[in-house]
Amino acid sequence: MEEVIRIKGQKLLNGTVQISGSKNLCVALIPASILARDVVVIHNIPPISDVYNLIEILETLDICVQYHKDTLIIDSSNVKYRDLDMTAMERLRASYYFYSVLLGMYKKLEAKSIGGCRLGERPIDLHIKAFEQLGAKFEIKNNSYYFDGSNLHSGHIVFDKISVGATINAVLLAIQIKGKTIIENAAIEPEITELNKFLIKMGASIEGLGTSTLIIRGGKDLHGTEFYNIPDRIEVGTYALIGAATAKELTIKNVIKEHIQSLLDLFDLLEVNYEIQNKSELIVRKSTIKKGIIVLTAPYPGFPTDLQQPLTSFLSVNEGTSVIIESIYTNRFAHIKELNEMGANINVTNMNIIIHGVKELKGLVVSGKDLRGAASLVLAGLMAKGETVVRGLEYINRGYENMIKKLRKIHANIELGLEDFGEN
Ligand code: EPZ
Repeated sequence: MEEVIRIKGQKLLNGTVQISGSKNLCVALIPASILARDVVVIHNIPPISDVYNLIEILETLDICVQYHKDTLIIDSSNVKYRDLDMTAMERLRASYYFYSVLLGMYKKLEAKSIGGCRLGERPIDLHIKAFEQLGAKFEIKNNSYYFDGSNLHSGHIVFDKISVGATINAVLLAIQIKGKTIIENAAIEPEITELNKFLIKMGASIEGLGTSTLIIRGGKDLHGTEFYNIPDRIEVGTYALIGAATAKELTIKNVIKEHIQSLLDLFDLLEVNYEIQNKSELIVRKSTIKKGIIVLTAPYPGFPTDLQQPLTSFLSVNEGTSVIIESIYTNRFAHIKELNEMGANINVTNMNIIIHGVKELKGLVVSGKDLRGAASLVLAGLMAKGETVVRGLEYINRGYENMIKKLRKIHANIELGLEDFGEN
C-alpha cells in the first residue's frame, strides 16, 4: 500500500495560510552552524524531512541537537570528524554543504555522490572548482570524492555560471581560511544574503551582502548565536498560485514582498486579483486568465525555476497560449506528461514549455517525480473536475510543511489516502 494525496477538485477555497520557514535557507544554516563549535539557536525551522535528515548527519558527528516547536538548538562544542553517513547524505543534495564545513575544519574529506530531486544533470563542478581555487586538491576514486585541504589559502573565485549551492559552499570554506577571499558572479538569492547575515552574527567578516561580489576576511574566531529563518518564498509562490486558481479569498501570512516580486509582476500581467496588506500578507483571489504570457526562469531576482512547475499547472487552464523558458534545469518537465493526461495541452521543445490553454482539467491518478512537480500536481488536482490521486507524497514532505493540513484549513477537499497500485 502507498500513501497518496486524494483531492476532489473545483472547490472554492477560502481562508488563511501561514507560511513556514525557508527550506533552502535552513538546509544551509544547519551545516553552517557547526563552524561556531558552540551553541547555535535557530528559530522558524520547518519540520520537513530534509531537516530531519540533516539532524541525523549532525548527530553522527557527535553534535547535540534539540528540536522543539520550530526551534533548533545545535551544540557543536564537541564535534568530531567522522566519515559522513552517506545514506542520509544521499537523501538531499544540500547535504553537500557539509563538504566545505568539514573540509575547512579537518583539512580532508571523503564523500560519495549526492542526492536530491532528479532535475536532469546536476553537476558539482562549480563547487569543486571553487574549493580548488582555495587550495583544495580533489580526486575521484571508485565513485568517491576525495578532498585534500592541507594547503588551503584565500583566493579570488569568479564563477562561470551563477550557482546558489556553489556560492554557499565557497563562502562556508572561505570564512575558515585566513586572508581575503573575493567571490565574483556569486548568486544573490535571499537565502544567501540571510546565510551571510547568520555567519556575520557568528563572527565572520563578509562584505557585499546582496551583491554578486562578496569579500570575505576569513580565519576569524566564530561563536554561537541566535537566528530567525526567513519565510519560504517558494511556499508563498505555490500558495499564491493555488489562491489565484481556486480561492474566493486566500490570505497568505508571513510574506516578504520583494522575495516574490517576479511572481507579482506576472500576476500584474495576467490581471490576477491580489493585494498586499499589513506589509507581510498577500491576499489572492481566483482570477480567470484570458491571455498567455512568456516567462523566463532565471536566477534571483528573476522568476524562480522552483515555481516553474506550479506556474505550468496554473497556466494550463487559460484562454491564451503561454511559453515558459526553463533556463536553469535541463529536465524539469516530468510534471508535463501528467498534466497532459489530465487534459492539458502542453509541449516541450528544447527548454521551452508551450502551454495551449484549455477549458478544464480532469481528475486522474498522477505521479509526482520531484518536490515542486508533486506540488504542481496538487495544484492541478485542486483545479480539476473530479477526483485526483497524487503519488509522490515523500517529495511533498521534503519541502512543504503539513501541506494537506494547510489546504484542509482553507476548505480544500483533500486527504491522505492509501492505495494499492499492485506494483511489486
Ligand atoms: C538551489 O539548488 C535550490 N536548492 C534549488 O531548489 C533551486 O532550484 C536552485 O538553487 C536554483 O535556484 C537549495 O537551495 C537546497 P544551482 P542548487 O547550483 O544550489 C548548474 C527546490 O525545489 N550547476 O543554483 O543545486 C545546475 O545544474 C530546489 O527547492 C552546474 O552546472 O542550484 C543548474 O543548471 C530544486 N554546476 C544551475 O547551475 C554546479 O557545480 C543552477 O544550479 C552547480 C550547479
